[in-house]
Amino acid sequence: MNTSGQVGADVPKVKLTKENFQRGMRIFRFVLPYKVPFILGLLLLLLSSISTMVMPKMLGYLVNIANHQAHTLPRFLPKTITGIALVLFGVVLLQGLFSFLRIFFFSRVSEFSVRDIRRTLYQKLVTLPIPFFEQRRVGEITSRLTSDVANIQDTFTLTLAEFLRQILTLLAGVAFIMWESWRLSLFMLATFPPLVLMAFLFGRSIRKLSKQTQDELAKTNVIVEETMQGINSVKAFTSEQHEVSRYGAGLNRTVEAALKASVFRGGFVSFIIVAIFGGIFLVLWRGASYVELPASDPRHLPMGDLVSFILYTMFIGASVAGLGEMYGKIQSSLGASERILEILDEESEPVHQPRPAGTAPLQVHGDIEYEHVQFRYPTRPDLQVLKDISFHIEAGEKVALVGPSGAGKSTIVQLLMHLYPLSGGSIRVDGRDINELDLTELRQHIGIVPQETLLFGGTIRENILYGRPGAPEADVVDAARRANAWQFIQSFPEGLDTVVGERGIKLSGGQRQRIAIARAILKNPAILLLDEATSALDSESEQLVQQAMDELMQNRTSIIIAHRLSTIRKVDKILVIDGGRIVEQGTHEELSHDEHGQYAHLLKLQLQPS
Ligand SMILES: Nc1ncnc2c1ncn2[C@@H]1O[C@H](COP(=O)(O)OP(=O)(O)OP(=O)(O)O)[C@@H](O)[C@H]1O
Ligand SMILES: [Mg+2]
Repeated sequence: MNTSGQVGADVPKVKLTKENFQRGMRIFRFVLPYKVPFILGLLLLLLSSISTMVMPKMLGYLVNIANHQAHTLPRFLPKTITGIALVLFGVVLLQGLFSFLRIFFFSRVSEFSVRDIRRTLYQKLVTLPIPFFEQRRVGEITSRLTSDVANIQDTFTLTLAEFLRQILTLLAGVAFIMWESWRLSLFMLATFPPLVLMAFLFGRSIRKLSKQTQDELAKTNVIVEETMQGINSVKAFTSEQHEVSRYGAGLNRTVEAALKASVFRGGFVSFIIVAIFGGIFLVLWRGASYVELPASDPRHLPMGDLVSFILYTMFIGASVAGLGEMYGKIQSSLGASERILEILDEESEPVHQPRPAGTAPLQVHGDIEYEHVQFRYPTRPDLQVLKDISFHIEAGEKVALVGPSGAGKSTIVQLLMHLYPLSGGSIRVDGRDINELDLTELRQHIGIVPQETLLFGGTIRENILYGRPGAPEADVVDAARRANAWQFIQSFPEGLDTVVGERGIKLSGGQRQRIAIARAILKNPAILLLDEATSALDSESEQLVQQAMDELMQNRTSIIIAHRLSTIRKVDKILVIDGGRIVEQGTHEELSHDEHGQYAHLLKLQLQPS
């Protein structure tokens, strides 16, 4: 993995322009399959807002009846205190029911659609070409699946619906108070716009500050992640204290940023409190003077109307505050969904192309031809790793690649699986350009024992079965036997069910390798790529691994990358690679007799006792 990539745990907020909104809303296609519960949720939301809006009016009527002003009530309502109280109770019950059902439906929508997003995203990730992963850190990719998805979890159901509801509340609230007393309403509204504007500006600077906090925290998380993954190196270099102080310094920066932000947040909260309560008292002061006027005065306001007026004013204030908060949430969710969509828009490898009906599955005999292959890694375009590689391996032949470290040997075999696009030349398998082959089918015919074996965290059985999922137990045991792995597997109390630990750390290097060989034997591919481990094994396990490799190479086209030249005497052809070119080729006999050749030189070096 690339270690110099950018930190990606924070979510960029996106300006709520129409264009950004439309782009982010493409994530809605994941909600679409659940449109029935979504629409039901919306309807319930509407119903519960209506019942909420009715309550202040009812309270106002209650006060008016108590104040002997029952004549202000509409005809269809009971004119007694108990009657109104019963109506209120009914409204509250309904409200409770609506809210329960709303959460029930919206949760289904958001849980299901989030599951779909995660599944689709993961499905996409595993089909992306290798360079995508080389340009990013693992943590950055997992945060797409976890925090970005969590960020949008409720936004596209609850928050968006809530946003609509607050707007409705705002509009309905204003309509209600206008109907009750337009004079008082105008007075109230005159104080509102400046407050909203100030809150908006305040909120913006807070968002900027809290983003800084998130950034700092993300940076510290990178330290934890990397040191936990490479804990062995941390200990080997005794840099525990160094890492602790590095992490501590990162945490201090996080706290600093968070505290700075908290001052603003505190200011914001107190501002909102003062503004809201101040506004209410102002309205009360003015309203009370209207209540005091004689009933004959056109400005007179019944007591109950003032009560409901104040309640509506509070609703309006709350919804304005809520709108600001949700606005921020929607913004960051748009940012998160954009990052998710960005990955979904990446181009997958051309795998699993549906085969045209009637055509037979790909048969591979194992004839391989490299023709003037040139290659640069997409992440390092300035370094030409392979300059001009041409060779031909007939089906069933065994070929060895030798050469100094960094010469490009591992690169050559990886290109056969089309893990990267070529920069020039072509590779043909059975006479067909690998660009034209279905990658999944091609790779099914290739077995690889990589230079560094990484096992998956499950059991030994699971790891061997990776070669051919669903293979019968007898085949697994047979593969383990032929890979010379059965002996040590049997010696474990749990046998095949032994858990190998994360990335296989509970096994030795040689054991891991033999598991990888068993895996390849089980797969039984037409083409075998063996990248010999550079780490030296003791001679006994080396012999065991060697025997296993010989077993594996039988009856198939094999390319073996050898570091110990003793292991490749019997191959049909040896290619000596240096600086991205083939500098020599021939059999062991031919090459070892060429006194000035590289192979003879390497041979001499290895024969010398060390
Ligand atoms: N994923 C990668 N991205 C960028 N450059 C790479 C990558 N893998 C290898 N390289 C570079 O390509 C060159 C060839 O690497 P390669 O792994 O093919 O060497 P090798 O011959 O297998 O060496 P060794 O004997 O040490 O295994 C090296 O210079 C290496 O730095
Ligand atoms: Mg290598």
